[in-house]
Amino acid sequence: MTPPPGARNDEPVILATARGGEVVPAVEDRSYLAYVAAALAVALLGGFVLAVLVPLTAIGTLPWAERLPELIQAHGWAQLQGWAGIFVAGMGLRLIPRFAGRHPIPVTITLPVLALLLAGVVLRTLLQPAAGRALADVGLLAGVTCSAVAMLSFAGTLGYTLHRGRKRPEPWRYFAWAGAVWWAAWAVLVLAAGVRATANDGLVPGMLDEASTWVVFFGAIANFIWAIQSRSVPVFFGRRPPTLRRVLAPGALLNAGVLLVLLSILPWSDAAATRLEGLGLTLAGLATAWLAPLAGSISGRAHRLRPRARAASRFVLAADWWAMVAGALAMWAGIASLASGRFELFGVRDAARHALGIGLISMLIVGMAQLVAPVFALERAEARPPGVEYVVGWPALFLAAGMRVAAGVLFGHMGERARMELIAAAGVLGWIGIAAFAWSVVRARQGAAHEGAPHGGSRVGGEAQPPPARLSRAAMPG
Ligand code: HEM
Repeated sequence: MTPPPGARNDEPVILATARGGEVVPAVEDRSYLAYVAAALAVALLGGFVLAVLVPLTAIGTLPWAERLPELIQAHGWAQLQGWAGIFVAGMGLRLIPRFAGRHPIPVTITLPVLALLLAGVVLRTLLQPAAGRALADVGLLAGVTCSAVAMLSFAGTLGYTLHRGRKRPEPWRYFAWAGAVWWAAWAVLVLAAGVRATANDGLVPGMLDEASTWVVFFGAIANFIWAIQSRSVPVFFGRRPPTLRRVLAPGALLNAGVLLVLLSILPWSDAAATRLEGLGLTLAGLATAWLAPLAGSISGRAHRLRPRARAASRFVLAADWWAMVAGALAMWAGIASLASGRFELFGVRDAARHALGIGLISMLIVGMAQLVAPVFALERAEARPPGVEYVVGWPALFLAAGMRVAAGVLFGHMGERARMELIAAAGVLGWIGIAAFAWSVVRARQGAAHEGAPHGGSRVGGEAQPPPARLSRAAMPG
């Protein structure tokens, strides 16, 4: 079998050649599926379970009240590092080389990075609530070291890919560069969090923890969201991708905002640190609300997609609406802290985090996976009605986001017991929504295996195509 021009023999490339009239099955890099499976496992067994356990503990239904703050941080980081982080890392390692016209990243890099990311998040989630005891402390430090090494490797791999790739002035390149830099910063923050937690009975100090969550949401995760969306989503909806000039201002505001939030953890006076963080939150929030219609899509029909894939595009629309809600909430909280120099509006910040976490990130993961992941290629081409991920998953996730955001905004305006019950119910709905998506991945995987498909006959854009006899690197799908 002759590799396509420029390919090395040890690379996982898509090849389907006719040999004597017989089709040789394609070989494809499927390590992204391991990332999807790991992210789903952490979400369904860790992050979303803790999302229910935390409010039930807070109202005394469960007996772990004295460890509640550690449980909250364990939930937050399982969701950020495990669910959002592992998924974004998997998609970044798969899509960015293709966008840049580079070789796929070999499994000798992708799989060790995944193993370290997973080990880090599992150790942190399990051991943070138990920290303060010698063995748990050692495990927690080992966990954050694994995370930091993985994050630096991810940042370095993408930085190298971007540096060596095509240098067209397209917005996705700059968002991806910024995202890679914030992953490197995340490596330092995760180490700092581990060290401070072991010295503080398992709890990361409030300012460091709060600032880190915003750096990760707006820096490490959102930059990749806008990189990938800006390249493909407007096209699904029949628009041209935005030019660099159009996203320059919001892109710069987003990253300037994240930088200010990061700087706020330096030893300033309390008022100065809070004002810096407030200004950063305001800028990042404004940029997020601005980028949603520009780099993503908030209206229209995805008429460029086949009918089955159109249902998936509704996840993307909902996610971009939640991005605007999150941006407005972050601005609200940011302006209040900027004006007073005090930590303001705990509930609004909590609502902004969850408009991002459930509304933007989780809904976008489900939608984009169905639109660009090769495992869904066959299903995208089918004329069957939308599956369980749409019928059950879309309303469950949308409602979960709505209830969780409302519970944040209503902090201090409704009884705490009823508020916690609302949060627990949102957690159950969120779990159901993610479980429906997990089921759709299993179904698509089985269907593709049954058809003997190479999981590779798709292009970014959801237009499934039969695998060609031979794919040149330029035509490499997402
Ligand atoms: C419906 C699903 C979810 C529920 C019910 C839920 C519930 C909660 C609760 C009760 C808290 C504690 C709030 C407090 O401090 O009083 C919290 C904090 C947090 N959640 Fe969620 N959550 C959900 C989904 C998510 C998702 C998907 C993400 C991110 C992708 C996320 C990220 C966070 C973060 C970063 C924190 C702050 C943790 C900290 O203070 O260190 N959550 N969540």
